[in-house]
Parts: sequence; C-alpha cells; structure tokens
Amino acid sequence: MVKLQAIRAHNASLKSLAPGLVGVFVGGTSGIALSTALAFARHASSPKIYLIGRSQSAADNAIASMKTINPSAQPTFLQTDISLLKNIDTVCAKITSKEKRLNLLFMTPGYMTMKGREETAEGLDRKFVLHYYARMRFVTNLLPLLSAAAQSEPNLSRVVSVLDPHVSVRVGGAGKLNFADLSLKDTFTLNTCGAHASLMGNFFLEGMAQRHVNTSFVHAYPSGVATGLMRDIPLVPLLIPVLKILLRPFMVPIEESGERHLFAATSERFPPKAHGEGSDVTVGSDGTKGSGCYWLSWDGQAFPQNAKLDRTRGEGAVEKVLQHTEEVFKQVCEEGKTYP
Ligand SMILES: NC(=O)c1ccc[n+]([C@@H]2O[C@H](COP(=O)([O-])OP(=O)(O)OC[C@H]3O[C@@H](n4cnc5c(N)ncnc54)[C@H](OP(=O)(O)O)[C@@H]3O)[C@@H](O)[C@H]2O)c1
Repeated sequence: MVKLQAIRAHNASLKSLAPGLVGVFVGGTSGIALSTALAFARHASSPKIYLIGRSQSAADNAIASMKTINPSAQPTFLQTDISLLKNIDTVCAKITSKEKRLNLLFMTPGYMTMKGREETAEGLDRKFVLHYYARMRFVTNLLPLLSAAAQSEPNLSRVVSVLDPHVSVRVGGAGKLNFADLSLKDTFTLNTCGAHASLMGNFFLEGMAQRHVNTSFVHAYPSGVATGLMRDIPLVPLLIPVLKILLRPFMVPIEESGERHLFAATSERFPPKAHGEGSDVTVGSDGTKGSGCYWLSWDGQAFPQNAKLDRTRGEGAVEKVLQHTEEVFKQVCEEGKTYP
C-alpha cells in the first residue's frame, strides 16, 4: 500500500512543476473525478481543468469550489451527453481547438442500474458505452494532444480510467471475453457487461501503451467511495444515510480518493513505456516493469498477475479488442451508421 502521507507529499510537489498543466475530467461533475479535479486544482500551479458531464448546476458548484481552492485555476465546463459517440467527437474538437497539449485525461463516467440492455441511437448499450466505448473514444481523439504534452516539460502525458481491472475475476469469475459478440448485442447481461467493460478497457489500454510509448495508461479500481453512483437504483437514495454509517469502515473517504487518484495520475511510478526504467517503477499489467500500462488497486499498488487474465491476453485479446473498437468507431463516428 502506498501510504497516504507519501501520496500527499508527492501531490504537494506538483506545485514545483511548470504552471499551466492541462487536465480533462470526464465525469468531473461528481464523485471520484470531481474529487480528483479538486485535488488537481489544490496542488497544481495555474492548472487548466475541463469538466465534462451533463449537470450544469453540479458544474457551477464544482467551478466555484475550484476558484476558492486556487484562484489561478482555470476551470471550464463542457456540457454534453457522452452516451452518444458523436457528442464525444464534438466535445473533443472543442478541446483540440483550444489546447496545444493535454497532460491528463481522467475518466470515470458511468452509473449503476438494474435494467437490462438499453440501446442508444448508435446501436450500443448505454451503460457499456459510458464504461468502455466513450472512454476509448476520448483516448483516440485526444491522443495527438497527449503526445504533444510528452514532448514538452514536464513531459506528463497520462490517461487514467477508473472502473475495476479485476471485476471479471473476482468471486470466481472466468475473466473471459466473448470474442464472437464483443459489443454484447446478443449476449448482454449486467454481468457480461461488467466483465466486458473491464476486460476491454484493460486490453485496449495495454494496446495503446505498446503503440504510444510516450504516454502512460492506468486502469484503476477505487474501492468503495461514497458518491452519487447509485442514485438511479430504486430505494437506494432513501437508504444512503444508513448505508453510509454501516459501510464507513470499509469505504475510502472521498477527499482521500481524490488525492490517491491524483497520485495515480501524476506519479513517476507509472511511466510511459519509453521511460520505463527506475527503481521505483511499477510492474505493468503484462508483468513487465515499466510497460506503460498499469492496472492499479485503490491503494496505488498494481494488482498481482492473474492467470485467467493472462490466458485471455494469450487468446489475442489486445489485437481483437483494438480491431473491434476501431470497427465500431469507423461505423458509428465516420460512416454515421448504427453498430453492428
Ligand atoms: N464509487 C464507488 O464506490 C465505485 C466502486 C467501484 C467502481 N466505481 C466506478 O468508478 C467510476 C466513477 O464512479 P463515481 O462513484 O465517481 O460515480 P458518480 O459520482 O456517479 O460520477 C459519475 C459521473 O459520470 C457522469 N455521467 C454519467 N452519465 C453521463 C452521460 N450520459 N454523459 C456525460 N456524463 C455522464 C456524471 O455526470 P452528470 O451527472 O453531470 O452527467 C458524473 O459526473 C464509475 O465508473 C464506477 O462504476 C465506483
């Protein structure tokens, strides 16, 4: 476990970096991304912060807090519903027109639901889009800006996706992908959706780290954090005060979660593949130290190697997931069709 004291000391040192770091926080109006954006505002010097979400009132509150924490912070809200990939292309075009580089792409969008498949106008399941396709579309669109950041001081160029790299193997899960139906058009259940979003995020980011060696890619598990995540589940909002008390000993406090995720987003322990040496460098998701892709637990440590996930990688998961995702993006974003 990386001690909170070490994390706070590292985050405090961000002040000494060149001013004007740029961060995009997808899902930044609430929960873990908001808490991390607030930590970024607290510790960075004159940071530019883009918050992406739907709620104007939540964004107004977030921006007011950032301005109080750090009057030199420059927060901007970009309001959009990212369950449609075409909206992501529009919002990324806005960012690209304003910025020459991007140091940090931090993503948490999602929600909990008991409902089954909900198809969007683009033919994909809405929850699966938020947990996987939307995030990887942001990565694809913003890679030129991330690559540009790697070429100038302080060379920070990182993608962080917060979900759960190990959900598919916890409690006896098989850690397998259904390569015949990666988008789950015919085999959707909440379980397969959870497993595919996690595994496809794992292997897509691993493929990106191999191809874009000056940017590093993190998939992080936050553990339990009291946020608005369960607001759409019937009765849960009524139970939240009681749940908060009962579960407190097992939860990560929201402010600590933000500090821990800022560490995952900025520490030199998680370097890109091109700079993967050094005594403190973490073992990457494929078992190679400094591979450029890191699957982290809530405490800042890499998950141990897992035989089931290694087997899925051995079945060609990285190539198959990249190919499928590129095909979805081509069909939906370039040709304006539904998928499949
Ligand atoms: N919290 C936990 O205990 C926990 C545990 C394990 C994994 N996770 C995972 O961690 C991630 C972050 O969770 P969190 O607890 O921070 O959740 P949260 O507080 O509910 O935040 C989710 C964010 O997603 C945004 N969002 C949802 N639908 C959107 C849409 N259609 N378009 C644009 N933005 C949208 C929301 O913004 P708007 O409402 O403004 O649109 C909100 O800012 C989730 O993927 C979750 O599954 C969380």
